Amino acid sequence: MSETPEFPAIITGGGDLSAFISANKPAVDAALDHAGVLLFRGFDVPDPLAFEAAIEAYGEAGFTYEDSLSNAVRTNVTPRVFTANEAPPETEIFLHHEMAQTPLFPAKLLFYCEIAAESGGATPLCRSDWVLDQLRTANPEFVARVKAEGVRYTNVMPGSDDAGSGQGRSWRSTLSVTDQTGAETRLSALGYSWEWLEDESLRVTTAALPAVRELAAGGTSFFNQLIAAFRGWADSRNNPNKAVTFGDGTPITGVDMEPAIRIADELTYDLVWQKGDVALVDNFLVMHGRRPFRGRRRVLASLIA
Ligand code: FE2
Repeated sequence: MSETPEFPAIITGGGDLSAFISANKPAVDAALDHAGVLLFRGFDVPDPLAFEAAIEAYGEAGFTYEDSLSNAVRTNVTPRVFTANEAPPETEIFLHHEMAQTPLFPAKLLFYCEIAAESGGATPLCRSDWVLDQLRTANPEFVARVKAEGVRYTNVMPGSDDAGSGQGRSWRSTLSVTDQTGAETRLSALGYSWEWLEDESLRVTTAALPAVRELAAGGTSFFNQLIAAFRGWADSRNNPNKAVTFGDGTPITGVDMEPAIRIADELTYDLVWQKGDVALVDNFLVMHGRRPFRGRRRVLASLIA
């Protein structure tokens, strides 16, 4: 019988976090494999440079925001550290695996709390292997279908960054191109289909992407962007009811999604940040999001390839 791990695992300490990580890398990785999220609390991480040092001490290659196809508007703070999402405080970012709506995604994420919000602003965390286990019982036809066909995501990107939206990154920035011809070349290579819209915005649809992932350590996870896309891809350009389809193009409806959303909500742990906290997240195993908040909040992020 396997024991349910503590989630997240909280490592309390003191002193320099980069020194702790350097000295304990194998144990840190073993704990991460087991728990899916490690929260380092009580260490000295006074500023983004100290966070950057801890990332360097962890010693794994970065996954850069420039190379990614992320939809979020972000700003670099240090070479490996950027703002997590510039969306306004009242916007909830629903559970997702980072960049699972694209063919390019990071294996792990690190978060650092520089300023904790006055109220709200927790990071919901959810074990996606546990979600899939329960979903196999609650909605077996749905699991079988997304596993067999994969899923496609459609979103509309503006011509210039719109920081007022959680999905506001421009197509120029997202695709690292300067003009429409460049955009089309990149999209072809990635297997997307696309349509240019009137106001210089661009609607893109992915190839069918896997929605269930086989994990290196065994087991499977609900590795996709369905919950966030279905619940949250709403702005002046995007309609969440058109955001996700099965691989054959049939829309995925609220009825299809209800069990997954309910199960994920039930399994969610809210990480309430304290200043100086650092969290290390296995992106293949654990979904994350952002609760709405009031006041200033600054949680920075870094991605590992
Ligand atoms: Fe994210």
